[in-house]
Amino acid sequence: MSLQIRPAHDQDHQAVIALAPRLAIGVAAWRDPEAAMGAARQWLDGSMAAAKERRGAVFVAEDGGEVVGVVSVVPQRHFTGAEDAYVGELAVAPHAVRGGVGRRLMAAAEDWARGQGLRHLTLETGAANLTARRFYAALGYEEEGIRLTRPLNPLPD
Ligand SMILES: CC(C)(COP(=O)(O)OP(=O)(O)OC[C@H]1O[C@@H](n2cnc3c(N)ncnc32)[C@H](O)[C@@H]1OP(=O)(O)O)[C@@H](O)C(=O)NCCC(=O)NCCS
Repeated sequence: MSLQIRPAHDQDHQAVIALAPRLAIGVAAWRDPEAAMGAARQWLDGSMAAAKERRGAVFVAEDGGEVVGVVSVVPQRHFTGAEDAYVGELAVAPHAVRGGVGRRLMAAAEDWARGQGLRHLTLETGAANLTARRFYAALGYEEEGIRLTRPLNPLPD
């Protein structure tokens, strides 16, 4: 594998959007998967636009001329007032997983964040996304908050 991690260009837009289905993995069973996919496309669009305006960064992993992964990162204020870095999207193509692509993309996002003088990198992932949770744990990420949900169906008498 001749893997290269580099900033995304306009010409990568289609290849980046093609990774959107990867971001619908691990969405809770009670959510609409089509809507999740649509949201993922919009997040990637927004991240590409933010990077173009230098409000954040998007890096792609390229292997033999093919885009096989993407990560986006932006500054985001934590409620304590601290300015964190936030990874909005990370996706690796199915045929490229377990080859260190995700680790190298996250390293690029972390380097960018350090370069901005930011001290923490945060992100969110689906509770059901066990692969991602194991991946982030392997990279040293700790759980900071947990979102809880329950349906509001009428309770039986
Ligand atoms: C999560 C994801 C980005 C990982 O990318 P990847 O390129 O396969 O990860 P790497 O090869 O760099 O793995 C680094 C380490 O993470 C851990 N890891 C990765 N995938 C794992 C899995 N399926 N099970 C257990 N551990 C895993 C391992 O410790 C691995 O190191 P090793 O291969 O030396 O054992 C990829 O699976 C993916 O794109 N998933 C779908 C999208 C997604 O869930 N994005 C993140 C949430 S928004």
